[in-house]
Amino acid sequence: MSRADDLQNLKTPDLPDPCLIRSERECDFAAIGDVITRAFAVAEHASGTEAAIVERLRQNGKLAVSLVAEIEGRIVGHAAASPVTISDGALGWFGIGPVAVDPALQRRGIGGRLVREILANLVALEASGCVVLGEPAFYGRFGFRASGQLIYPGMPGEYFQEIAWKTPIPSGIVGYDVAFE
Ligand SMILES: CC(C)(COP(=O)(O)OP(=O)(O)OC[C@H]1O[C@@H](n2cnc3c(N)ncnc32)[C@H](O)[C@@H]1OP(=O)(O)O)[C@@H](O)C(=O)NCCC(=O)NCCS
Repeated sequence: MSRADDLQNLKTPDLPDPCLIRSERECDFAAIGDVITRAFAVAEHASGTEAAIVERLRQNGKLAVSLVAEIEGRIVGHAAASPVTISDGALGWFGIGPVAVDPALQRRGIGGRLVREILANLVALEASGCVVLGEPAFYGRFGFRASGQLIYPGMPGEYFQEIAWKTPIPSGIVGYDVAFE
């Protein structure tokens, strides 16, 4: 499949809300921290450090893609992608996360739009592939699969999933930026 096809396939479906997905701006930083904190406060798996991770990625220059969902001028969601390393030396791989949607507005397609737009941005950056640590029930719908070739130590294999845009798919241990430590 060509890269143009990849981009076409990742086009987001329209939402009934006037919900805009766009790159973050400096004036959004506080609202991004706020929506991440509120989303993870009610999440099943959360460390409470997710907003700080995004701030540190930004400070480290590793926030490769940072998108907000905006409704009527209000930030209601956020998703990030940052570069990851793979122990076999493969280049051009990124990790998605965290992804957060205002608890009052979940299950309306906003999280899905954010993930699709992040993937479209990574394809446009000519990324080799992308990993995510999360619920297969949510991420599987975007094409993520747990092949078992990419490993995130300490996590059950089925929760660590990837999409590859270039072959061969690498094998090895995946490392996130120090911001995640
Ligand atoms: C995960 C999250 C970003 C999804 O946002 P959203 O706007 O609700 O997503 P969408 O409306 O596009 O999709 C909702 C679908 O995903 C499913 N889903 C959402 N979170 C899920 C989870 N933790 N496990 C399984 N399925 C999940 C819903 O069941 C729903 O499926 P359905 O449409 O078949 O009913 C949002 O729930 C959130 O902010 N959660 C707290 C933070 C978090 O856990 N982030 C993910 C890890 S980085």
